[in-house]
Amino acid sequence: MKRTHLFIITLILGGFIVSCGPNSQQTGDNQNAAGNKNSPSVTTDNSKGKGKFTDVQLTHPLDQGMVAKGKNLFDVKCSACHKLTDEKLVGPGWKGVTDRRTPEWIMNFATNTDEMIDKDPTAQALLEKCMIRMPNQHITDEEARDVLEFMRNNDGKS
Ligand code: HEC
Repeated sequence: MKRTHLFIITLILGGFIVSCGPNSQQTGDNQNAAGNKNSPSVTTDNSKGKGKFTDVQLTHPLDQGMVAKGKNLFDVKCSACHKLTDEKLVGPGWKGVTDRRTPEWIMNFATNTDEMIDKDPTAQALLEKCMIRMPNQHITDEEARDVLEFMRNNDGKS
């Protein structure tokens, strides 16, 4: 009985540790750029990241045309590595991504992926957790904006 419990707990914790999603709980190996093992940078980040996007104007209500184009792009270029839930595939699940990152950070990451992973503390922390470097997907600025709208829709924003 006790042994079974321990086994199940180990499985659950193990699941958290390998996950690079927002709910993952790391033990000792999360020494990211901020140097703090409980660094909030992996879960929430108010920075705009590095890149050309410094002031993204959001639409209210959502622009359904952009949502549809963003979904197409997701299907073709992103769904191999990202789920729409909070579950990790290769990269973090997208559920809640518009809450943990600013619109600017998301668009800079999507279009300026290499510089972000090289220099942005949050992106570096994600890389440490996921252990795979997201390849630059070569999307246009417009496509990045569409995919942001699709993410907002996925997060139930209006
Ligand atoms: C080959 C796998 C792969 C593909 C394809 C991919 N990504 Fe990623 N993505 C990752 C990984 C891995 C990470 C975690 C950061 C890192 O390790 O570089 C990530 C992280 C992200 C993040 C940050 C998520 C968070 O929780 O902060 C965003 C935003 C993102 N990707 C957007 C995209 C978009 C948009 C596309 C499609 C145009 C895409 N990704 C395609 C692997 C991928």
